[in-house]
Amino acid sequence: RRTGRAASHGKTILIGEHAVVHGAPALVLPVLDARVVATVTPIDTAPAVPHPDADPATGHLLESAVHTGPLDTAPAAVLPTVTAVTATLRHFGVTDRRFHVRVESDVPTARGMGSSAAVAAAVTAAVADALGHTLDADTHHELVQECERIAHGRPSGLDARGVVADAPVWFDGGRIEPVALGARFTFVVADTGVPGHTREAVASVRDRLERDPVGVRGTIDAIGALAHAARAALERGDARALGASMDAAHGLLDDLGVSSGDLDRLVEAARAADALGAKLTGGGRGGCVLALAADDDHADRIAAALRGAGAAATWTTTIGDRA
Ligand code: MEV
Repeated sequence: RRTGRAASHGKTILIGEHAVVHGAPALVLPVLDARVVATVTPIDTAPAVPHPDADPATGHLLESAVHTGPLDTAPAAVLPTVTAVTATLRHFGVTDRRFHVRVESDVPTARGMGSSAAVAAAVTAAVADALGHTLDADTHHELVQECERIAHGRPSGLDARGVVADAPVWFDGGRIEPVALGARFTFVVADTGVPGHTREAVASVRDRLERDPVGVRGTIDAIGALAHAARAALERGDARALGASMDAAHGLLDDLGVSSGDLDRLVEAARAADALGAKLTGGGRGGCVLALAADDDHADRIAAALRGAGAAATWTTTIGDRA
């Protein structure tokens, strides 16, 4: 009998949200400080007296900030967790084992930081670990995507990649590549405090594309071109060029109708604090903004300005430490 344990973390999209759903490339960054840890402990397979809080149908018990109790009465927010447990057990052909699943997460839900994918990534790997297995990267990704389809409809897979990556990832047509960094880059993520609505935002962009295929395809292609420009800027260590791509991407996301007054206000506050660039990140219509700082002190100043402008929380994330 072994206890399984696995961790993942939040993510932030540097460039390419929404456009990626329609085939454009995108860049995603891990947010290593926002952690998810899943611990999966076997419950006796044939208990004389079932655990009072356990799921009557399956015997599983979930303990998390969102829901504690049986899986079958779980609210919609924990459906990805339920799927993570059941899909992993099905993958290994296991039907006769009961588990206590504990999820601890610093990743806020519905903020574009990949909380649903991060929880799914940690729980699937922890269930596999409790069964004495390790998931290979492709199988793990497929299981997380199964959970993400429940959370988001038709996810591109970008979130699922970002929450297990330890470095920036270039995502194109479902394939991923690591990005070489020419310098150290410091970003500030700020939460509007307003839940985002990824599923609805993705559906509304799809509607716009159907109504105005030429115009919206032009915007999607322009975001794709910014993703290429941003990758080149990361590789040659050009923070100013990267910031300019981020500013332009925010304008194009606004054209797609996925920004909001709260997001625009935080983007303006970051720019007023001399951020090199700022944009919404993730599904939009709430959730988070991402700002690029010149250095760590500047990141502290931007974070303070964002909190002064009403941000509920901020995170600083640095990439390219070893560059
Ligand atoms: C959500 O974090 C990112 C979107 O591009 C949706 C997706 O990629 O599946 C809005």
